[in-house]
Amino acid sequence: MGKTFAIVSQKGGSGKTTTTLNLGAAFAVRKLRTLIIDLDPQGGSAFGLGFKPSDYEYGVADLLQDKVGIRDLLLSTESPYLRFIPAGNFNNVAEIDRFHNLGKRLSLLRRAVMGIRDLCDIILFDTPPGENSLSVSAMNCADSVVIPLQCEPLALRTLPQILRLVREVKSKVNPALGIEGVLLTMYDVRYGFTEQVTEQVWRNFPRELVFETIIPRREDFSKAFIQGHPAVFENPLSPASLAYLQLADEIIAKLAREVESESTSPIASL
Ligand SMILES: Nc1ncnc2c1ncn2[C@@H]1O[C@H](COP(=O)(O)OP(=O)(O)OP(=O)(O)O)[C@@H](O)[C@H]1O
Ligand SMILES: [Mg+2]
Repeated sequence: MGKTFAIVSQKGGSGKTTTTLNLGAAFAVRKLRTLIIDLDPQGGSAFGLGFKPSDYEYGVADLLQDKVGIRDLLLSTESPYLRFIPAGNFNNVAEIDRFHNLGKRLSLLRRAVMGIRDLCDIILFDTPPGENSLSVSAMNCADSVVIPLQCEPLALRTLPQILRLVREVKSKVNPALGIEGVLLTMYDVRYGFTEQVTEQVWRNFPRELVFETIIPRREDFSKAFIQGHPAVFENPLSPASLAYLQLADEIIAKLAREVESESTSPIASL
C-alpha cells in the first residue's frame, strides 16, 4: 500500500518541485515503486522529468472532469521504479469548478488515488504555492505532508500559515493527515540568515517535526531541472543528490519504525 506524501508550502519557489522530483528519484534509486502526481497547473514536475506537452494527452485536470481513469494517466520515466502523472491542462479551472464543487473534487481524486495505491510503495504530490483547493486536494489524499522551507526569513514567516492549513484539512476532511516534517532547503552558509533561520526552526519546532537532513543550495538542481533529469538521476554521487538520498533513507527508516511499532502493539498481537 503506497504511503502518500503531499509536498506543500505557502511560499512560491521554496523547493516543492525540486523536492518532489529528487525525493521521488531517490526512492526509485532505493527500488521503491514510486509515483509522482503533479497537482500544480504550472506543470514544473513534467518539465523536470523531461516530458514535453506533446508526450501526453491527459492529466489530473481531465481526471477531475471524469474524462479519464487514473490508470490511463500513468507515464513511465527513465527509471523503472518511477512513474508520473502530469497535471494536464488546468486552463479551465473555473470551468472545472462549475462541474465539481470542492467536496466532489476531493472525493473523486481521493477515490482515484486509493485505487492505485496497491501499484506503488510511495506516492508524492507536487502542489502549487499558497492556500488553494489543489493543495487541499493533495492533503486530502495524503498520509502526511512534507514542508520544504527555504532557509530565509520570509519563508519562516509563512510557515505558520501552511501549518494552520494542514491542521484545518486534518480537522475538516482528512483526520489521518500527519506532518512528516519541515525540510530545510537551499541551505547556504554564505548567507548569514541561513543559520539564523535554521536555529529558529530547531528552537521553535519539536525535533520530530523537522527532518535531520538539510538540503544544500546547489546549482546542480537548476541545471538538472533544465535538462529534464532530476539531479539524483543525473549524478547520484553529487552532494546535492546525496542530500535527497539521505532524506529518502530518513523517511524509509521512520516508516520501518512505524511498521515495527504497529506489529508490536498490544492490538496487533490480539
Ligand atoms: N537546493 C537548491 N539549491 C539551488 N537551487 C534550488 C534548490 N532547490 C530549488 N532550487 C531552485 O529554486 C527555484 C525554485 O525551486 P522549485 O521550483 O523547486 O520551487 P517550488 O516551491 O516548486 O516553486 P513554485 O512555488 O513556483 O511551484 C528553481 O529554479 C530551482 O531549480
Ligand atoms: Mg513547483
